[in-house]
Amino acid sequence: MKVKKAVIPAAGWGTRFLPVTKVVPKELLPIVDRPTIQYVIEEAVLSGIEDIILITSRGKSGIEDHFDLAGELETILERKGDEKTLAEVRSIRGMAEIISIRQKEQKGLGHAVLCAQKAIGDEPFAVLLGDDIMDADPPVTRQMISVGEAYQGSVIGVQEVPRENIRLYGAVKGEKIKERIYRMEGLVEKPDPGDAPSTLASTGRYILTPNIFSILSELPPGRGGEIQLADAIDVLARKDKVFAYEYTGLRFDAGERLGYLRANLHFALKRPELQAGVKEILKEFMESSGSG
Ligand code: G1P
Repeated sequence: MKVKKAVIPAAGWGTRFLPVTKVVPKELLPIVDRPTIQYVIEEAVLSGIEDIILITSRGKSGIEDHFDLAGELETILERKGDEKTLAEVRSIRGMAEIISIRQKEQKGLGHAVLCAQKAIGDEPFAVLLGDDIMDADPPVTRQMISVGEAYQGSVIGVQEVPRENIRLYGAVKGEKIKERIYRMEGLVEKPDPGDAPSTLASTGRYILTPNIFSILSELPPGRGGEIQLADAIDVLARKDKVFAYEYTGLRFDAGERLGYLRANLHFALKRPELQAGVKEILKEFMESSGSG
């Protein structure tokens, strides 16, 4: 199973991050000094993905610009002799081949993935959701491609979550077949905790066979009146081999305020030039909150 293409949906309104997302696409909100989507595209590229299919909407053209050539900026950096920043700016534009497709109506995540059908064709592909930022080695998508190759089926990236939180995710119905691997029987989108088939949550990474497209094209709207990717996977799991895989590594829910702050702190602490400064700030905050 060769997976060379990835779909990255980036068409949502970003309502959870208003008011900043009124003009700034949430995919461009920075984690330290890089837009969140850059972490996701880096993961895809490091996983062996060659073509990125970005599903966008009105007002999102800044994302394409970020990965485009910025001639004037490069000239300025060249003149300043700032080789380090220049190299970084250049590496971003050379990262991957990006094809961008407009989702003209926001009909849900499943519909966004369906928009990529022509660009994907008849091959398995990855889906990476930009709200979920991973820090893992090997990258989560790479781990999942290996599972797809070994088991010859679709793979959903999952994590255990506290039962009260399963209402925020697709919940896996299935049976454990090996350490970290489950054969899926279904996927229930955002269940009430009491009804959830498990506390294994689908967390924004998928390897899917192209059979998903015919299912998506016939799927009625689900939760919130939207075409849900989770509902299509639920159908796929009854027809084909679909596995849930508990990947190793850290996940940050950057689509939520505290998760976003946590991601910023985590990635800042990983930067040698920022580490001491961040620790100092944290210490200061801890001390002042301790004294009331
Ligand atoms: C989406 C999916 C859900 C999945 C989640 C992971 O929901 O519909 O199945 O568990 O992403 O982050 P959203 O968070 O966009 O509401």
